[in-house]
Amino acid sequence: MKPLIVANWKMNPESLVEAKRNFEIIKKGVRNIKKVEPVICAPFIFLPLLKATNHLKLGAQDCFWEDKGPFTGEISPTQLKNLGVDYVILGHSERRKYLGESTELVNRKIIAALETGLKVIFCIGSETKKPDKEMKYQLKIGLRGVRKQDVAKLVFVYEPVWAISTSKNKVIATPHEALKGGLYIRNVLGEIFDKETAKKAKIIYGGSVDSRNIRGFIKDGKMAGGLPGAASLDPHEFVRIVKKVDESLGH
Ligand code: 13P
Repeated sequence: MKPLIVANWKMNPESLVEAKRNFEIIKKGVRNIKKVEPVICAPFIFLPLLKATNHLKLGAQDCFWEDKGPFTGEISPTQLKNLGVDYVILGHSERRKYLGESTELVNRKIIAALETGLKVIFCIGSETKKPDKEMKYQLKIGLRGVRKQDVAKLVFVYEPVWAISTSKNKVIATPHEALKGGLYIRNVLGEIFDKETAKKAKIIYGGSVDSRNIRGFIKDGKMAGGLPGAASLDPHEFVRIVKKVDESLGH
């Protein structure tokens, strides 16, 4: 599977004009990229107006767990799928923090998204410097009812809360710390499923990823890609991140 570079635009940009302009710059910049899968996770309102291509996929930043019905303000996995969206980020720490989203809710969303055929980008991370029980809980509860054959449709993100660029006391994680987080996730996946499934799981890294540090996370941190937030808001910087990874894979 190709390394994945996923832009999490969060609640940006402020206008459709800007969103379209940034998307076009990225589309142009990655059109010859063959060894990396770039994904743009844009706000819901922009998704119908950005067209995915073979070289640039679309993702959402959340979804509900039902297909349709009386759920004011929500967006369903089916609605996303019908728009041509391939990926959905679930369990992001900002949703846990600002919206009180529980791991039980994340679990319902993961099950629904997988059933619909979306690929799930499942964020795992805690406030502590070292991977801890909170991450184990997120994985065990978050994956309740997920069959082992569905693990291939999930992308796990090790995203330590303290390394996110906008966090109060931000510290940039080292590739070694990313490596340890990834190993922790893989071990827990081994406990939940089995060693073989855990070995094959795709784990990427999130937290202040940019074009200068991405190679370290991939090479020394053994990550299968990255989830940049702030750096992805500059379309040229996002293209640089994708290219850095593509070039590092050789011919
Ligand atoms: P930053 O890249 O801004 O640290 O954001 C990370 C993140 O939260 C991506 O989901």
